[in-house]
Amino acid sequence: MPRGQQASTLTGQLRVAVRSGSLRAGTRLPATRTLAADLGVSRGVVVRAYEQLVAEGYLNARQGSATEVAAVPDLPQPRPQPDPRPPSNPGLPAGTTFPRAAWTRSAARALAQLPDADLGYGHPAGHRRLRFELSAYLGRVRALLAPPERILVVNGFAQAARLVADVLRERGLTAIGVEDPGSKGLRDQLTRAGLTCVPVPVDGQGVRVEVLERSTLRAVVVTPAHQFPTGVVTSPDRRHALLRWARDTDGLVLEDDYDAEFRYDRTPVGALQGLGPDVVIYGGSVSKTLAPGLRIGWLVVPEHLVAAFTDAKYAIDLATGTIEQVTLADFLASGEMDRHIRRMATHYRTRRDRLVTAIVTHLPGWEVTGTAAGLHLLLRPPPHLDEHDLAALAQRCGLDARPLRDYALRKRDRPGLVIGYGHRHPDALAKAVTELGRSLR
Ligand SMILES: Cc1ncc(COP(=O)(O)O)c(C=O)c1O
Repeated sequence: MPRGQQASTLTGQLRVAVRSGSLRAGTRLPATRTLAADLGVSRGVVVRAYEQLVAEGYLNARQGSATEVAAVPDLPQPRPQPDPRPPSNPGLPAGTTFPRAAWTRSAARALAQLPDADLGYGHPAGHRRLRFELSAYLGRVRALLAPPERILVVNGFAQAARLVADVLRERGLTAIGVEDPGSKGLRDQLTRAGLTCVPVPVDGQGVRVEVLERSTLRAVVVTPAHQFPTGVVTSPDRRHALLRWARDTDGLVLEDDYDAEFRYDRTPVGALQGLGPDVVIYGGSVSKTLAPGLRIGWLVVPEHLVAAFTDAKYAIDLATGTIEQVTLADFLASGEMDRHIRRMATHYRTRRDRLVTAIVTHLPGWEVTGTAAGLHLLLRPPPHLDEHDLAALAQRCGLDARPLRDYALRKRDRPGLVIGYGHRHPDALAKAVTELGRSLR
């Protein structure tokens, strides 16, 4: 073994012995010559190890006396911990169908074409190539008015929400309206970022704008394409009312377009931002179309807010990783994203259809509400049943089920179960519902 490596091995062993307490504070270490002879290494190896550990503070060396173990604070011994469970989420896409080969091809191509200069700190608003591709994609697929210079690349919608909170607070706003029921994760993010979340109820047409009009709110976050978790699509009247409210109050609407690419009964309805690019901050991500683990998303913001958002993003983490960004740009440009979405829409539709058919067959009296879209649905059991007990039973039967109460801020009259089906096999869904029906009988 080369000497450098011998020295670093010995350094590591002594460091562990000091940290673990097997070499206690004040213990005198053997003279370098003695230890070297014992270990069968050259003296220089031991000298280097001692010097390194003196520099790090694990050993004390005084001229003319032996090297001693320094007093190191009693550190708790690391114990193996199970991985923390990822946040619970009914909208998970199917991990097994991630387009690994196509993504790898895009990554290889993108990296090969990336100029060396682009491996420095990236632009906080995102790599120009991805902003350009997103502009075309969002215009084509979601009917957005999104020139590249109004787009910011972020680490998922979660970071988009954080940036929105930062920019709103800077402008003196302290509260934001949130849909009730709505995403608990989003509420938590906004609250942690210093905003007060004010519940605004949702009905069969979307968020109730007349409640907003009676409030002092000047910002609201909505999911118009497919309300989370009720599945309601915001009606045309409500869309216009929401934009009118924003314009009349100098307010802002944060549009969370989380799973809008997946609509099974018709072409997805275009984004609200297309009607109100002056008052809508649009956010989306690849978490439903590709995988949440990629942590890539985007914001499209009104022109007058571009600088504020760019500064906020820079302040948080300088920029999103360039290699992932250019990979996604290539994935979009090569048409792989469109192919993947088409393929996945067929998969998800099959899953939803199997789930709904099983519900109709085995759970008479239960109602599936919301639009045929996305990766989850809302199920309404008969009113006398307790949704908490039902969710636990449904989970035991193999469904990804959560009580609607988990998403609601105010008490609700009717029970509901939010069922995620995107990441479950159609046969497993049918089997789980059959089992649930049998258990209830
Ligand atoms: C309502 C809602 N919005 C947005 C997202 C996506 O968040 P992100 O892009 O940070 O993964 C989710 C994810 O589950 C969601 O449920």
